[in-house]
Amino acid sequence: MEKVYGLLGHPIGHSMSPLIHNDAFLNVGIKANYQAFDVEPQMLGNAIKGIKALGIAGCNVTVPHKIAVMNFLDEVDEEAKLIGAVNTIVNQNGKLIGHNTDGRGYVQSLIEETNEEIINKRFLIIGAGGAARGVITALLRHGIEELTITNRTQDKIEPLLELANLFQTPASRATREEVERNLDGFDVLINTTSVGMSPRIEDSPLSLNNLRAGAIASDLIYNPLKTKFLKEAEERGGTSHTGIGMFVNQAALSFEHWTGIKPDHQRMRKLVLDKLG
Ligand code: ATR
Repeated sequence: MEKVYGLLGHPIGHSMSPLIHNDAFLNVGIKANYQAFDVEPQMLGNAIKGIKALGIAGCNVTVPHKIAVMNFLDEVDEEAKLIGAVNTIVNQNGKLIGHNTDGRGYVQSLIEETNEEIINKRFLIIGAGGAARGVITALLRHGIEELTITNRTQDKIEPLLELANLFQTPASRATREEVERNLDGFDVLINTTSVGMSPRIEDSPLSLNNLRAGAIASDLIYNPLKTKFLKEAEERGGTSHTGIGMFVNQAALSFEHWTGIKPDHQRMRKLVLDKLG
């Protein structure tokens, strides 16, 4: 029988997940159908019950449900607990298990696409929301030298410093002004905020005047593929790393949780690039 998979989000109109997952199922010869379900926040609990009742085999979870969904699952794995958010549900014989593939997908992509060993790098994280937490957790699990976090709202940085402390990784906070002044002290700069995302493509989270030549600028945004932040970094002799790899890898890791099969990353990437135009 054809298996059903889905995405729970609100709104879900522009998601490319159905496109890449349906293609991946077809490509590996599994009869399955992946659909996007628009679930309003007050209906989330019912939607999760529906997964069990209908025998839906697995789901992705996206904005705004990644945190709230944890209340309705039977089990949440260690990484998702640390991140405090779930983006993947596996229905294991009626037991719903939550995972988070965002952070690991990001770190995989950073290493593969920049060809750099990241352990000895000095990282700057811009932003302190859910996306930042996913990325920071994965970086800490991988092992990095040190971490600085900057955010418009300074208070939100504190829980992230506590997270770094769990891994005994030196971490500090800085204001935007401090970061801009001392930018040459960082090897990898990661924008985890939505600043620069389409349609506001002229915005950038930071001035890069003092960027060290050879530094890596990385953006979680993949629409546009090259944000102003990345273009500016390239103009100043930096290397850029776009968000498309993270999007593809998190999807591929979810697919692996569901099927045990590693899908064709390049094929997924091409589908997304074609769709972006
Ligand atoms: P996500 O799950 O995508 O990380 P989030 O938890 O709402 O979403 O976090 C969004 C992040 O982008 C936050 O760090 C936010 O800064 P604040 O904590 O000050 O709100 C940052 N952000 C969003 N819009 C911003 C803007 N216009 N300027 C600076 N930072 C912005």
